[in-house]
Amino acid sequence: MKKAAPKSRGKAPAATGGPARNRAMEFFDRQFARQIAAGDFALNPFERTALPFLSGEVLDLGCGLGNLARAAAKQGCRVTALDASPQAIAHLERCARREQLPIVARQANLQRLEFLLAAGERYDAVAAIGLLMFLPRELARAAAAAIAELVRPGGRAVLNVLIEGTTFLDMFQPDGFYLFGPRELPEFFPGWKQEHFELSIFPAPRETVKRFCTLIARRPGNV
Ligand SMILES: C[S@@+](CC[C@H](N)C(=O)[O-])C[C@H]1O[C@@H](n2cnc3c(N)ncnc32)[C@H](O)[C@@H]1O
Repeated sequence: MKKAAPKSRGKAPAATGGPARNRAMEFFDRQFARQIAAGDFALNPFERTALPFLSGEVLDLGCGLGNLARAAAKQGCRVTALDASPQAIAHLERCARREQLPIVARQANLQRLEFLLAAGERYDAVAAIGLLMFLPRELARAAAAAIAELVRPGGRAVLNVLIEGTTFLDMFQPDGFYLFGPRELPEFFPGWKQEHFELSIFPAPRETVKRFCTLIARRPGNV
């Protein structure tokens, strides 16, 4: 059966202050072009961990090519997916249209999330996988706090960030990134139930490493 597209949340994406163009964006433009050319749309390990925790109205911040958004929509979620990359959003819109999935995809600069709070929408799950470390420290921490506010009672925050000890830095704007402390994310969700907490390490080019923290936390209350 055809799924109805979610009601347009035009307010939110319209008020984003324009696209974020920097070294990180150029890094992902190249990566996304390679993935589209190769037909590589597999979920990454963090997205695979996140997927079973997503239900209802989902906000996917920094959605990239939208692999998680599409998988979530296929399991019954209604997804709003935002990213700064026009190429990634165009790809996701094409896929969602072709697959008739209930996804609203919009290009948005997510350096500041106040525009989402101001729009008044709240979600059953807010995912930000691999996004917050691309913001300078104060904005990264403010975004984590805003994500907590965007989650409805009984809903979930799904976060994944690079942490201290990461030595692969090719994708970062030199003056505009933040490596979280290994135990920093839970600070933004006091009193929430930690459903998943994981520290992981992956090898990267030139004998560097990427260290990640993944947190899935459930807000007290009923959905
Ligand atoms: C590491 S990728 C993660 C993509 C996807 N969540 C995944 O797990 O594959 C980081 C994403 O954040 C987006 N991004 C980085 N800075 C951003 C910003 N200021 N505003 C919006 N998106 C941004 C990039 O375009 C990219 O799609």
